[in-house]
Order: sequence, then structure tokens, then C-alpha cells
Amino acid sequence: MHYVAPSLLAADFRRLDQAIELINTSEADWFHLDVMDGNFVPNISFGQFIVEQVAQDATKYLDVHLMIDQPERYVESFAKAGASGITVHAEATNHLHRVVQQIKEAGCKAGVALNPHTPVNVLENIIEELDLVLIMSVNPGFGGQKFIYQSIPKIRQVYDMITVRNSSAMIEVDGGVGLQNAQKVLEAGARVLVAGSAVFKADDPAGVISKLKAISGN
Ligand code: DX5
Ligand code: ZN
Repeated sequence: MHYVAPSLLAADFRRLDQAIELINTSEADWFHLDVMDGNFVPNISFGQFIVEQVAQDATKYLDVHLMIDQPERYVESFAKAGASGITVHAEATNHLHRVVQQIKEAGCKAGVALNPHTPVNVLENIIEELDLVLIMSVNPGFGGQKFIYQSIPKIRQVYDMITVRNSSAMIEVDGGVGLQNAQKVLEAGARVLVAGSAVFKADDPAGVISKLKAISGN
């Protein structure tokens, strides 16, 4: 069984209530919230204030993806805002192990994200500590980009590492995921599909979510 996590980044923020309602009432499993600081990535999205507002109406797991430099500065405030899980980028901190402990101490599930060019061996000494590994299948910063196919063998590499090391981490894949590639992503070992444009730019977002749920890959 896999999870579907629509990314609110692709939603119409003038109608945020409708986007939240869509996720609450559809077959989606998680809310995926993309926080961008204009520094780690060349774009600025939203911060704790919006996460807190979403948390008030969301009835499902809040998956907060921090695309910010030195995320250790903000772990507690996102936990307080209502995050269920917090994912930080391996490239964004000098003290990955410490941040992961900090996330857990704040009462959240801990995830580490890897940019497309980052080798999976950076997880070698932390994999047992993780609840989630997020494989970026586009360069982070924007929704609506093209899926990088090199991510498929990378998912498999992480899957093998998790298996060998007996880690309970789930693999989440983020960027350009949709009906055209979801099966391959799942077959490679992913458990969580993030989908922004594929869901929110569709005529029938709830229908796309159902179809993503129905794909059998693992
Ligand atoms: C990209 C974000 C993604 C993005 C996915 O930096 O991390 O979560 O919203 O959007 P799509 O599915 O449109 O690539
Ligand atoms: Zn994301």
C-alpha cells in the first residue's frame, strides 16, 4: 500500500479552503507543504503562518518539506505550527544528525531530502534514524517541472540501503510525479507519491488522486 500526498504549492491560494477540503475528502493520504526560503532554492513560497492555518482545517497527516538553509533554526516553530512530519535537505545543513534528533524531540516524524545530484551515500550513517527519505525527482524550487528519470535507479539504491540496514524509513518521491510515471516510481520502491500539478492542474483532482491510489506497484 502506498500513500498519495498532493502538494498544495500547485493549488489556487485564493481558494485554499477548497484545496484543503479536496485533500480531506478525497483518497489522498497526506498534505504535502513546500516551504521555500528564496535562498536554498530560488523561490519563496510560504512559512509557518500558512502551515498553521492549513493545520487548523486539515484532517490528515501534514508532511512539511523544508527547502530552507539551516533548517535547525525553524524545526520547533514548524512543529508548533502543526507539522506531523518535517523533512530537511541534506544539502542545507552541516549537522544533519543533530537536526534529525531535533525533529524527533519536537514530536514529529523525521525525513531527509536529497537533491537530484546528491548521492545516496550521504544517508549511509543516518538511515536507521530516519522515518522518511525524500528523493527529489526535479531540482527543488518550482512545481510543474519535468520528472528526471535518473531518479528511478536512485530510488532503488535507497530502497536497497533501507533493506540491507533494516531501516523503517519510507521513500517519498517528489517532483514531476503523475499518472504517466507513478507505477515505475512505486516499482522502484517508493511508498509516498507527492503530486502537485498532476492533481491541482487536472480537471478532476479527486479523480487523479483515486487513480494514483489505484496504481499497483509494490
Ligand atoms: C518542488 C516541490 C514539489 C512540487 C511538486 O520543489 O518540492 O513538492 O510542489 O510539484 P509537481 O508535482 O508539479 O512537480
Ligand atoms: Zn515538496
